[in-house]
Amino acid sequence: MRLVLFGPPGAGKGTQARLLAERRGLVQIATGDIIREALKNETPLGKKAKSYVEAGELVPDSLVRDLAENAIADEGYDDFVLDGYPRTDQQAAWLTEFLEEKDRPLDAVISLAVPDEVIVRRLSRRRVHTETGETYHLDHDPPPDDVDPQYIVQRDDDQPETVRNRLSVYRDETKPLEEYYRERGLLQTVDGTGGIEDVYDRVEEVLDDLRASA
Ligand code: AP5
Ligand code: MG
Repeated sequence: MRLVLFGPPGAGKGTQARLLAERRGLVQIATGDIIREALKNETPLGKKAKSYVEAGELVPDSLVRDLAENAIADEGYDDFVLDGYPRTDQQAAWLTEFLEEKDRPLDAVISLAVPDEVIVRRLSRRRVHTETGETYHLDHDPPPDDVDPQYIVQRDDDQPETVRNRLSVYRDETKPLEEYYRERGLLQTVDGTGGIEDVYDRVEEVLDDLRASA
């Protein structure tokens, strides 16, 4: 199955993609995670991306294209869930062309709908593990006791000011892609509020429907 998980920052794309990986054997391809790893290791990509990520802006399309396409190719063009890609018209057009060339079009784009006030609350309480990249939430998914607290940090771009900018970038540059995918019959909107497992059940329902109609 070839999926995109779509939605605003903090919608739960990473959380749901990880569950799909664990339970459905899909490979999670998260451009944000790849970029953060590059920042940490101060690679050439990391150095180019740094100022954009810190400001909550999108990294230029040309820098992320190869990240996504190479990761998809590594997985044999199947059984993946894209998390955080595509995010612009240009990225969506490239992705369509790239997959069509291999005759492996997307099965669905699942858009997680979450209101801004819920997002701001989620992101202010999110914590990440600096080494494993594991994501936690201080209220309902706190780091286990055996995890050393010195590795648990807030993402730099989860500061309130940066979150506001990310939301506005999402509205201007990324949300319009819903229309692009609706026109192609791929868009599935899922209510992203409620508990993590409730959202996962809704995602599974969409996948069941897709399988039934395949
Ligand atoms: P990226 O890492 O993709 O960030 P994002 O899209 O802003 O999304 P987040 O990772 O913040 O949120 P999420 O939807 O994954 O939510 P999560 O599951 O963690 O991108 C970062 C930056 O990299 C971008 O700003 C840009 O600079 C650059 N970049 C990346 N891709 C790019 C691209 N394609 N083009 C250009 N630039 C790119 O959940 C959030 C929190 O909520 C967690 O604490 C979680 O535990 C909690 N939570 C999740 N679900 C629930 C629930 N149901 N109930 C309660 N809490 C929940
Ligand atoms: Mg994420």
